[in-house]
Amino acid sequence: MAATTRLLSRLALVTGGGSGIGRAVCQRFASEGALVVVADRDEEAANETLRSLSRDHKVQEHMAAVVDVSSKQSVENLVAIIQRRYFQPASVCVTTAGITHDDFLLRMEEEHFDKVVQVNLKGTFLVTQAVAAAMVASGVSKGSIVTVGSIVGKVGNIGQVNYSASKAGVQALTRTAAKELSRYGIRCNCVMPGFISTPMTDKVPEKVISKMTSLVPLGRMGEPAEVADVCSFLASDDSRYITGASVEVTGGLFIG
Ligand SMILES: NC(=O)c1ccc[n+]([C@@H]2O[C@H](COP(=O)([O-])OP(=O)(O)OC[C@H]3O[C@@H](n4cnc5c(N)ncnc54)[C@H](O)[C@@H]3O)[C@@H](O)[C@H]2O)c1
Repeated sequence: MAATTRLLSRLALVTGGGSGIGRAVCQRFASEGALVVVADRDEEAANETLRSLSRDHKVQEHMAAVVDVSSKQSVENLVAIIQRRYFQPASVCVTTAGITHDDFLLRMEEEHFDKVVQVNLKGTFLVTQAVAAAMVASGVSKGSIVTVGSIVGKVGNIGQVNYSASKAGVQALTRTAAKELSRYGIRCNCVMPGFISTPMTDKVPEKVISKMTSLVPLGRMGEPAEVADVCSFLASDDSRYITGASVEVTGGLFIG
């Protein structure tokens, strides 16, 4: 990974920063010069990510914060804490917080459908809304919000009726946010990972993993850092003419 400074002095909020893809995004952003707010519902996990970040800043530091993205109050508190600590809002935000609760459609409990939608879709809405409002209020000239969908939001996946629906919603939300927020200089894009090695996919049975991997043209699961690379591009000015896009990071899985 080539270290650059393209995110120098950008303040970046990463939800779900305590694990997997979110942790890799925090590490990548810090290595590119960003100040990173690692936000997660798991305080210890967020602190562990924080300890792993490179620190080139002399005055200000990265921070870890606890948030439940499915709670409006919790998200608003987080945005207020960032404002108090850094005297500015985040101008980059990546919404990686997400959960699965898999079961077949015919067996899916209503509460498990609701919970996954609350965290993945409503959580993305609450964070996008609160962060964008803070950016607009402070008059940021270039904001970038990167949401995390999933390839299964596009193609569906057996056992994930709740998750795939939530991720399709994230993609649609992102497109709408891109249309509404471009007038304020805020870009919104969605990354759609395929099968990436993280604690989330550690729960998937080995035979499902090997079947999925056999369908990946590049022949392997992805690494969190490979998703983080794309988030970094979308966060930076290198993607300044891209908004409302969905970028598949799948090794070619379900190209069509
Ligand atoms: N791993 C994959 O193959 C894959 C594929 C497609 C999409 N994704 C998406 O990427 C994102 C990251 O996934 P991952 O594989 O790194 O998962 P992960 O389980 O390793 O990390 C998810 C993080 O989100 C946090 N989180 C969960 N609920 C939260 C809440 N309500 N508020 C705040 N934080 C919360 C968890 O504590 C955890 O640290 C998710 O949105 C996931 O749906 C992952």
